[in-house]
Amino acid sequence: MLLSKLHALFCLCTCLALVYPFDWQDLNPVAYIKSEAWVSNMQALIAAASIGQTKIPRGNGSYSVGCTDLMFNYTNKGTFLRLYYPSQDDGHSDTLWIPNKEYFLGLSKFVGTHWLVGKIMNLLFGSVTIPAAWNAPLRTGEKYPLIIFTHGLGAFRTIYSAIGIDLASYGFIVAAIEHRDGSAASTYYFKDQSAVETGSKSWLYLRTLKRGEEEFPLRNEQVRQRAKECSQALSLILDIDHGRPVTNVLDLEFDVEQLKDSIDRDKIAVIGHSFGGATVIQTLSEDQRFRCGIALDAWMLPMGDEVYSRIPQPLFFINLERFQYPSNIIRIKKCFLPDRERKMITIKGAVHHNLVDFTFVSSKMIGYLFTLKGNIDSNVVISLSNKASLAFLQKHLGLQKDFDQWDSLVEGEDDNLILGTNIDTTNHEATLQNSTGIERPNLD
Ligand SMILES: *[C@@H]1O[C@H](CO)[C@@H](O)[C@H](O)[C@H]1NC(C)=O
Ligand SMILES: *[C@@H]1O[C@H](CO)[C@@H](O)[C@H](O)[C@H]1NC(C)=O
Ligand SMILES: *[C@@H]1O[C@H](CO)[C@@H](O)[C@H](O)[C@H]1NC(C)=O
Repeated sequence: MLLSKLHALFCLCTCLALVYPFDWQDLNPVAYIKSEAWVSNMQALIAAASIGQTKIPRGNGSYSVGCTDLMFNYTNKGTFLRLYYPSQDDGHSDTLWIPNKEYFLGLSKFVGTHWLVGKIMNLLFGSVTIPAAWNAPLRTGEKYPLIIFTHGLGAFRTIYSAIGIDLASYGFIVAAIEHRDGSAASTYYFKDQSAVETGSKSWLYLRTLKRGEEEFPLRNEQVRQRAKECSQALSLILDIDHGRPVTNVLDLEFDVEQLKDSIDRDKIAVIGHSFGGATVIQTLSEDQRFRCGIALDAWMLPMGDEVYSRIPQPLFFINLERFQYPSNIIRIKKCFLPDRERKMITIKGAVHHNLVDFTFVSSKMIGYLFTLKGNIDSNVVISLSNKASLAFLQKHLGLQKDFDQWDSLVEGEDDNLILGTNIDTTNHEATLQNSTGIERPNLD
């Protein structure tokens, strides 16, 4: 009975989603980020649900992983994040992946489909869990390096769990921020203390470009706010580490005081995907407490020109082959200045969303068809990206671990990697110099 209901919903949903056109080839970068790819993500998600495949991988490291959410304070100027951390092994249940229906509504708004698609997705995916123990106690007896993670456009704090869980399993505390700059599909806060008490959330949905509005000014303003939010999250966690009493607005079972004296305070990095990649760069330029950064398939349009020369810390670009394009690579290369530690690798055959959890909830065939996965296995992509990240972090945070076993990945030494980039930018330099920051749909 339930199954046939689901099937009916699935058909309805597919019909709605199919009304919207999408490209069978790789999409142009801006459109890719903005909409069509997400429409296909939704289709793949729905298809995946109908055949029951939803499997976000466990971490490969030796630590058990716990997960909690932390909101401080209740306003939209406060900090909201999901924390993945090394945990004690004590039978807590798994964590809900996408915990509120409004996130599905936000995703459906982002891709421009009918709100009903969001409702249906909530029905299909609202109970999916990830392999991290919800509110399990922190594992004690060690100080952990800290990573602030920043999400992409139209995403939110919970959908990079394959990265967060894996890094936590190698002994990091990972704080995945939810940005309040209007770039998240959805996020929430509370209007006042009585709204906190009654649990009446105020939802903030994706801020879309207005008709005729230029993209660069909005994105640049957003990336600046995002960097502030990264710094603010770091300050909050360091305060907690110092023993400042902090009340989690969300009133969860996890006692925040456990984090006192848990952070290895000078081993702090920032990692982000897409818009989050740009945020990594902006954050490094503003906040020297971050010792290094990793930009995963960075989307560089939001960057102001003044930033490139202001990043003394080591910076690692992990690109995915099928997303990158000349004007983006030209901006990335502006970060490569003499006497600065810079690395860049490209994962062959990978698509932009290979690093977002959605890549794991779709079946291989459907995922490939709809560009959600590339022609490389998602597990291989995430594993290469995470292992190269670990090697880079060990070197630049000075960790005493064995992540240097993957040093060769940072140098692009693997059949699935290219050192540097696949993109030839020689004919595009001139075009970019006159760019106002608005990306042309197809430079090549
Ligand atoms: C919430 O945090 C923001 C940013 O730190 C601060 O400006 C604001 O005053 C705080 N509001 C309350 C009610 O604590
Ligand atoms: C764990 O390692 C296996 C084998 O190397 C790999 O296939 C898998 O993708 C890895 N998982 C993660 C989350 O990196
Ligand atoms: C860029 O702008 C300058 C001055 O406006 C102009 O002389 C030059 O031809 C332009 N170059 C390209 C490639 O459009």
